[in-house]
Amino acid sequence: MEKNYKMPNLKDASKRTDAISKIEDNLFSIPDFVKDIGVGRNFYLRTYGCQANERDGEVMLGIFEQLGYTRVFETQEADVILLNTCAIREGAEDKVFGELGSLKRLKRENPDLILGVCGCMAQEESVVKRILSTYQHVDLVFGTHNIHRLPHLLGQAILSKEKVIEVYSKEGEVIENLPSSRVGKHKAWVNIIYGCDKFCSYCIVPYTRGKERSRLMEDVMSEINEVLQAGYKEVTLLGQNVNAYGKDLENGTTFAKLLQAVADTGIPRVRFMTSHPWDFGEEMIEVIANNSNVMPFFHLPVQSGNDAILRMMGRRYTVESYKEIYDKLKAKIPNCSFTTDIIVGFPNESEEQFQQTLDLYEYCKFDLAYTFIYSPRKGTPAARFEDNISDEVKSERLQRLNKIVTKYALENNEKYLNKTVKVLVDGPSKKNPHVYSGYSETNKLVNFTPIKAKVGDIVEVLITETKSYSLNGTEK
Ligand code: SAH
Ligand code: SF4
Ligand code: F3S
Repeated sequence: MEKNYKMPNLKDASKRTDAISKIEDNLFSIPDFVKDIGVGRNFYLRTYGCQANERDGEVMLGIFEQLGYTRVFETQEADVILLNTCAIREGAEDKVFGELGSLKRLKRENPDLILGVCGCMAQEESVVKRILSTYQHVDLVFGTHNIHRLPHLLGQAILSKEKVIEVYSKEGEVIENLPSSRVGKHKAWVNIIYGCDKFCSYCIVPYTRGKERSRLMEDVMSEINEVLQAGYKEVTLLGQNVNAYGKDLENGTTFAKLLQAVADTGIPRVRFMTSHPWDFGEEMIEVIANNSNVMPFFHLPVQSGNDAILRMMGRRYTVESYKEIYDKLKAKIPNCSFTTDIIVGFPNESEEQFQQTLDLYEYCKFDLAYTFIYSPRKGTPAARFEDNISDEVKSERLQRLNKIVTKYALENNEKYLNKTVKVLVDGPSKKNPHVYSGYSETNKLVNFTPIKAKVGDIVEVLITETKSYSLNGTEK
């Protein structure tokens, strides 16, 4: 039976060739044997992890809808349960294993239930082996390169009543013309580049997502025009490293050119996630500065404030060169906001090296930082580094860092008091239906008392109160 499984292999996943990625326009199809297989049936999809995974989730929603399924939000009501997983840290994986454990009961009660695991964890052989040995109630496992195969794989799992495992470990291609069902009605995510070739020593993403490969500019632009026609107000260009966009196409396309073209469509708001400090060029900064619809918000992960650690992480920049980009952006784009990611407790990080991360934080006074304790990922180079720093020291460093994060979050937000900001309205806030919420141009969460505001409007809000993680105000 195992012979039919297509198991993942991290070693194969780490290989890179110079070949230009193939653009596949025609890979997706719904075979006759699964047509309407979902009519009268429900599916439940839960996505963990980053926006790349969220966007994949939207593609899977689109596929389920084409098969006739109805989405439900309770696992008990589902005929198919799919967990779209994240492998970035051990904690992320633990959540999924916990969920799989608690789903055992449902499967026992309903043997026809199909339980599937996809996303980044499915790309790890250790995970799939663990599923095979300990979570035998899982029926379907497929990887990030196999999403277009969902109709076939699901059909096979349902009809054969046998476990289906299909995970390709390869560089990957650019697959166009997949269905998708966007979750947001006025904010859209658009992939521009898949995968990652940076191979930071601690990170699993280059293995789970394949090589850095750009979509053709014309394909990105036609998707942007579609969302514009559909009335979307904001688009976020997605990639692990958006500023590498175009490099693999060898036709002179760059992220700066793409960003300019997207801004030229006149869509009210353009954002991008994530950029890497390594190829954050002059041309790109100019485009951001010159276009008022490119939002003045930067998420630029720094990871550490010490050069030796940055070198061991394989980050390809120094503290000095990071500060240069920071200074340039702050000078060219006044009032922009700036967030980052930081890892504490990288193997053998000394107190002094950690202190330099705090020093850099004091220099940049970030609007916000996502902070993590280093988590060894099997198969990555850093997982083999010896480490003599205790877990207690790592937790204590995280706490010290987070104190500063909160302090500057509040300080940055205080600058908005009595100022007017433009807010794209998401709708009534979760806690109080009379209070609306949305995000400012600088990506601040704003809760406000509405006057005429409707979901999807961009309105002016006077800020009357500031908190660490949100602003409060009244519509003008
Ligand atoms: N492509 C982005 C980051 C994607 S992962 C970039 O390079 O900027 C999001 C964040 O998770 C990273 O910025 C890093 O801070 C964190 N991260 C990644 N691998 C990790 C690991 N093994 N342990 C702890 N944090 C990690
Ligand atoms: Fe991971 Fe580094 Fe790639 Fe970001 S740039 S996804 S941290 S390998
Ligand atoms: Fe997680 Fe994969 Fe994204 S590991 S952060 S879901 S690329």
